[in-house]
Amino acid sequence: MNTKADIILEDLSEPLTFPVDAYVSREYAEAEGGKLWARVWQHAGRVEDIPEVGDYITYEIANDSILIVRAAPDTIRAYHNVCPHRGRRLVSTPKGGNGARGNATKQSFFCGFHGWSFDLQGSNTHILNKDDWKGTLTHERTCLAEVKVDTWGGWIWVNMDPDCISLREYLEPAAGILDPFRFEDMRYRFRQWTVFDCNWKVALEAFMEPYHVAATHPQLTKYGDFYAWSKVQGLHGNDGYDAPDHQDEGSAAKTTVHRTGKGADARIMMGEMQREFWETVGASTTQVLVDAALRLVDELPEGTPADEVHRHWLASCKADYAAMGVEWPQISDEQMATAGLAWHVFPNMGILQGPTFALCYRTRPYGTDPDKCIYEAYAIERYPQGQEPKTEWTHADATEEHWRKVIAQDFSNMEMVQLGLKSRGFRGNLPNPYQERKVTNLHRNLAQYMGIGAPRALD
Ligand code: FES
Ligand SMILES: [Fe+2]
Repeated sequence: MNTKADIILEDLSEPLTFPVDAYVSREYAEAEGGKLWARVWQHAGRVEDIPEVGDYITYEIANDSILIVRAAPDTIRAYHNVCPHRGRRLVSTPKGGNGARGNATKQSFFCGFHGWSFDLQGSNTHILNKDDWKGTLTHERTCLAEVKVDTWGGWIWVNMDPDCISLREYLEPAAGILDPFRFEDMRYRFRQWTVFDCNWKVALEAFMEPYHVAATHPQLTKYGDFYAWSKVQGLHGNDGYDAPDHQDEGSAAKTTVHRTGKGADARIMMGEMQREFWETVGASTTQVLVDAALRLVDELPEGTPADEVHRHWLASCKADYAAMGVEWPQISDEQMATAGLAWHVFPNMGILQGPTFALCYRTRPYGTDPDKCIYEAYAIERYPQGQEPKTEWTHADATEEHWRKVIAQDFSNMEMVQLGLKSRGFRGNLPNPYQERKVTNLHRNLAQYMGIGAPRALD
């Protein structure tokens, strides 16, 4: 007979706990390379990173490095970034960096050790003194080892498992729910990265639920309460604002990043809230949206009900974008409400989405050190064609000088969580069974890959 501890409901609605190994164990971190990262689809960059034939980026994950190249105008290929001769990393990548990027000069990769060379299709094109091998250097022995690659939403995804399921199948139901946002038409607005003294899951989970807002970002509570639903979406998860009586679920105006918030005058609150988010998050809205929200007091009479303010604001935003030549995607209220506020895409990606923008996070292990991670945050936005800003990855220390206030507030917890998880007095996580299911779901799915650490019911 199953005990209560064995029965975990599919939707994770029961109070559960899970152990700390995933965050602090060196053995666990070393096993992640083979058991997790070698078997999952993970986003390695944006299609816009490699616009020209020969452009490449590398994606560093645990002890692996993957070379992703535009091999032809419509073809992206990925290879293990290692020379088949004596194993030099083909494209040099600094340890603890967020990857190398460049263009394969003369459409060829050249190994700096003995000069073996490879074309964009991964075939060997030059071996010094090849005859010394007496004819044994076949194509199979000397080509670059291929990695599965595909695109969705303007992202490039890779999977090191040759027998993996398709990217689409892996991403469902997230891909189907998020398709209407057409992230593939968005381009980088900014991109920054840093290294934290915490596990990659600690850094990722700092952005997985609004349950932390009241304590970590108290200045934001004047605009609204941050109670939120949190849902299992297969391997992935999403959340959205809600009311404690769970009445708000299903309402685009109340659950998404575009909600009206609280306050007596919805016109004023919309404007102030949008301005504060723009200034202190630096993302999750756009200049066009902020400007349209600040005009509400002039465009609508005092006492306009919140849902009308909301409708008017979105209609103005749409019209403003149309005037700029940017088509606002068709997203119904129902689709907006189902998508909610933000997503976790298993294992290491966060997306906070809107019709014309997304704020994205990615966290990765720093080699196999359980106490360090590489953290990247970037915003993408819909721009009139040809007006996309030129951006580069910028390394930025985790201070308020380099990151906006709200993001820096999130950073302030990370190292302290990593230290606390190692306390002899810590009994295991107690995630909120309604508002933090995304976190619990991450650990349930991790446990499936890793073979340890499954959440269990609290008796
Ligand atoms: S290791 Fe690359 S050419 Fe020798
Ligand atoms: Fe936060």
